[in-house]
Amino acid sequence: MASRLGFDAAATQREFMANLYVRRGLTLTHGEGVELVSDTGERYLDLMSNYGVNILGYGHPGLEAALIAQLRALPTLHCSFVNDVRASASAELARRVNPADPGLVYWSNSGAEAVEAALKFAAMATGKRRFVACRGAYHGKTLGALSATWGAKYREPFEPLLWEFTHVDYGDSAALEAALDEGAAAFIVEPIQGESGIVVPPEGYLPSARQLCTDRGALLITDEVQSGVGRTGRFLAAEHEGVAADIVCLGKGLAGGIPVGATVVTRAVGERLERGAHSSTFGGNPLALAGARFILATLDAAMLEHVSLTGEAFLAALRSVTHDLVPGARGRGLMLGLVVSDRRDDILRGLQKHKVLAVPAGSHVVRFLPPYAIESSHIDRAVGALRDTLRGM
Ligand SMILES: Cc1ncc(COP(=O)(O)O)c(C=O)c1O
Repeated sequence: MASRLGFDAAATQREFMANLYVRRGLTLTHGEGVELVSDTGERYLDLMSNYGVNILGYGHPGLEAALIAQLRALPTLHCSFVNDVRASASAELARRVNPADPGLVYWSNSGAEAVEAALKFAAMATGKRRFVACRGAYHGKTLGALSATWGAKYREPFEPLLWEFTHVDYGDSAALEAALDEGAAAFIVEPIQGESGIVVPPEGYLPSARQLCTDRGALLITDEVQSGVGRTGRFLAAEHEGVAADIVCLGKGLAGGIPVGATVVTRAVGERLERGAHSSTFGGNPLALAGARFILATLDAAMLEHVSLTGEAFLAALRSVTHDLVPGARGRGLMLGLVVSDRRDDILRGLQKHKVLAVPAGSHVVRFLPPYAIESSHIDRAVGALRDTLRGM
């Protein structure tokens, strides 16, 4: 089918954009519900929501109305001025992250920025510069976040990185206990590792990390950029184990598709932050926070329940696929990974050929981060496409 664009967007993007991203060979011009539409008019089932961003899918009328109204009223306002939307969004997010003891919010524009702020805040609050992070961790690619991120291909071109980071095996409480001495400012951890392959730690790991941090005088930073905002069926993934962190990082879908980052600190940490120590021109802009307010209001108990139940059904459906290349599937809520022994990228390409979009994670995982609105018919369509892809492989 011919492109409706009237110019070769793929060639133009290739010619004028820095060559830093994998090329999926697909031009997408708009979205409707849980589908993305190509320049040739073909419809793709979106089971990746742009790496976990478009949690309400595309064209949600309430979200669109809230964003358009704010775009007209006031899209940007520096945080040195008060704004009603920002005040309410901050209160609502702080209460959502910790209803019993709401903390303080620092707003930014991306997940990596939320992590950068978390590291600086931990250093400022504790007066220490040593951090413990996990092997397999992904916290972003700006220099501070990259120092916490694991993975030679991301780190090596830029080493030496910042401060002192010790990486320990994920899910191993004894390794954490050995590394977390009194010189550590904080332990930074994803409640479920996303980028390295949807790795769920053993039950009890997060509570024991919480206790160790408290005992050793270190802060616990949970990076919920991917696992937060309802992705696992709770607002925060750490809630499944009753863990409250000192600093929580959020991003991705928090503003319904408008760029946003948030670093939520306890009042004890917040009291130690000095004015001017950190800021962002666009952070806390009312346009993004109108999106965040809409998401926080919409993401109610019923929607979280839907994420849990749909996630369970999707995981069971993935586990029902039997093939030599597929040893299993894992994850929680709508943060799911199909583990494959080989040919992962061929499987991703095959799914795309069958009009289903997923994304890679680690070296052997097909990752699904669908919009929360998916229904059982979409799961059937996805698993049908997966079976068709695997047939003959
Ligand atoms: C856990 C985690 N932290 C941080 C980031 C970085 O977010 P961003 O790409 O918005 O900077 C990501 C991105 O995937 C992530 O998954």
